[in-house]
Order: sequence, then C-alpha cells, then structure tokens
Amino acid sequence: MKSGFPKSFLWGAAISAYQTEGSNTNSDWWEWEKNAHVKEQSGKACRHYELYEQDWDLAAKLNLNAIRLSIEWSRIEPRENEFDQQEIGHYAHVLRSLKERNIEAVVTLHHFTNPQWFAKIGGWANPDASFYFCRYAEKIVASLSPYVKFWVSINEPVVYAYYAYLKGRWPPQEKSFIKAWKVMKNFSRSHIGVYRLIKRIYKDKGLSEPSIGPAKHLRGFLVEGGNPFYSLSAKLKDYFFNFRFLDELKKAKALDFIGVNYYTCDFMPAIPKSLLMNTLGWPIYPEGLFLMLLRLKRYHLPVMILENGICTDNDRQRWDFIDAHLSSIKQALLRGIEVRGYFYWSLLDNFEWDKGFGHHFGLIEVDYHTFERRIRESALQFSKEICKNRLP
Ligand code: FCB
Repeated sequence: MKSGFPKSFLWGAAISAYQTEGSNTNSDWWEWEKNAHVKEQSGKACRHYELYEQDWDLAAKLNLNAIRLSIEWSRIEPRENEFDQQEIGHYAHVLRSLKERNIEAVVTLHHFTNPQWFAKIGGWANPDASFYFCRYAEKIVASLSPYVKFWVSINEPVVYAYYAYLKGRWPPQEKSFIKAWKVMKNFSRSHIGVYRLIKRIYKDKGLSEPSIGPAKHLRGFLVEGGNPFYSLSAKLKDYFFNFRFLDELKKAKALDFIGVNYYTCDFMPAIPKSLLMNTLGWPIYPEGLFLMLLRLKRYHLPVMILENGICTDNDRQRWDFIDAHLSSIKQALLRGIEVRGYFYWSLLDNFEWDKGFGHHFGLIEVDYHTFERRIRESALQFSKEICKNRLP
C-alpha cells in the first residue's frame, strides 16, 4: 500500500500571504483588525515576507517538492489602478528562489484578503468585482508566468462568502443573503475570466499550457439515522456548499484540476463521541476525505489536495492525522481518482484569521518573539514518508 502514489506526485505544504508575511498594511483585514477589537492582530505574523528564503530552505530540507503560496493583492495594487513594480518584483524573487531549490510553486491569486480601496467600493459584492480582480491578475500573471505552472484562482469562495457576507464574522461583516449570492456570482465570473486570461497570456508568450483550478473547501455533511429533515438539510448544504461552484466552472469549461481543501465533516444530529478534535473543535475524520474524493469522480479531472491539516499542541497527533489522510488518498487513487498532489496546511504556524496565533497548524513551529523556526517531529515523519514514496 505504501507505493500507491504516482511518481510525479506533488508533496507540498501550503501558506497564504496574509497569514505569514506580516505588515500587510494596505489590506482590508489589517484595517478590520485595528477596529474590530480581535484578540490578536496579525502584526508581523511570521515575517515570512523577509524570511522566505529561510522558509524555502526548511521546505527543501523536508524534501517537499512543492509549495502553495498566495499573492497579496493589496501589496500589488495598494491604490486603485496603481501597480507597485517593486512588490511584483518581490514575488518574482520568491518564486525564483523556489525554482532554485527545485520546488514547484502553486500560486493562489486570492486568499481571503483584499486591498482597502476594493473593500471600500463594495468588495466582492461590487458588480464590477471581476473586472478589478482580472486587471490585477493580468499584471501578476504577465510578470510571474515564467515561474508558474499551477495557478489557483480563488481560495474557498463559499467559505469566504459565508463568513464575510452571511455570518457577519469576517470583514465586511455583512449578514445579507442577497449580497452573499452576488459575491458567489462574482467569484465564478472572476474564476472564468482569470482562467481565460491566464491561458491567453501563456499562449501569447509561447509558454507551455498551465493548469488552473480553484481551492474548493469540501466538507462532508453526514447524517446518522433516518430523520428526513436532516437528510434534506444535508443534501441542500452538500449542493450549495460543495458542488454548485464546481459545476458552474465545469460547465464553462474553465477547470483543469479540482483543488480540494479538506479538514472535517459536519455530523447530524451530533458529532460521534469517538472522534478526536483539533484545538479549534473540528472533529478529525480522515474517512471523510475518501468519501469526498469519490464524489469528484464525475468531473473526470485531476485533483490536488491543496489544504489538509490539524491545529494541535500534541505533535504526535499531527503525524497520525497526516498518515490517516494519506491513507484515504491512497484508497481514492485505487478507486481511480487522479490525485496529483498533497499540500499539508501549513508549512508554518501562522495567523489563523479571527482566531489569532493560538492554533498551531505548522510542520514548522514559529516563535513569534524571535521569529525563529523549529522543525517539528511530525514534519520529519512526513518527510520520511515523502522519501519512501519518491524512491524510483
Ligand atoms: C482554511 C483557510 C486557510 C486556513 C485553514 C485552517 O479554511 O483556507 O487559510 O485558515 O482553513
């Protein structure tokens, strides 16, 4: 069973710009943190903006052959239609230094945060949101295309729409079904726009065709017993939360791979008592990943696990978590699901949005006072597993 992974498999870890770089002062989250009295502000985060070479060295040491990272739009376009060449240059350096270490970059264009000017004109609920997003993306892709074969358009569109526009928890803290719906429309429009744009840019430059997909959070909605109310509710949630967006992109022929972020499942009527939880209270259920992967069969597309991880203060639990989820992937591969990569969330401990710094997802521990990094034991175990599977 140990050799079930294809040779070209991407063994990676993921991060996002806002959660690691620090000092993203032009971002809407920065503004919001200042005013919303959250327990902890992102501040310098992991100082990854300055320390990225060190982080890539550690990734290489762990035998990772891929990293998923994101571009911070508010650095690139701090004021409307003013593009900062120096910041674009920064990301070119970041990607070049991955290339020098033979690490494949998977680059996300939008991971939850926006420039303040964009938020002020209505953000993702603005009818022209996809115009603004594609204009920014065009600059980025035109400059960074030599370094990137895999693009991720938007991270977890439904999660973002839900927390920022329906639940009122994340900026701009709206609670409007209509706005959330508009945001989702704009996300699909933006994905489709950016998909076509990227393909055109690569073609014009004579570069080989890149692969483009979203990072879609998938979550099983599992019902125990025959209660028809729960069954109906699970069906609706499953459609709207998991599949509607993917169906739209597939219909528009704007999907090369399905990026999956998988953490947990929702259980109705209650979480089984036997399940362990992470420090955020999410039940650990590796079988759910297998179930969700099987559901992707009908798309006939390659799949990449772009996020999967655990926040825990018990590092042994982290390796058990990874091992169990890798087993689920192996089962899915045996059933014909073409999984092409696995990215653990996260390479580093980092800023977990409104929850702050207290939840430790990292393969690498970060000391937030000295910014020193320390490789965790679980990371070494993951690294061993990677070596085993990458042997010819
Ligand atoms: C996902 C987000 C990622 C991180 C993990 C724990 O929903 O994409 O940024 O916060 O959860």
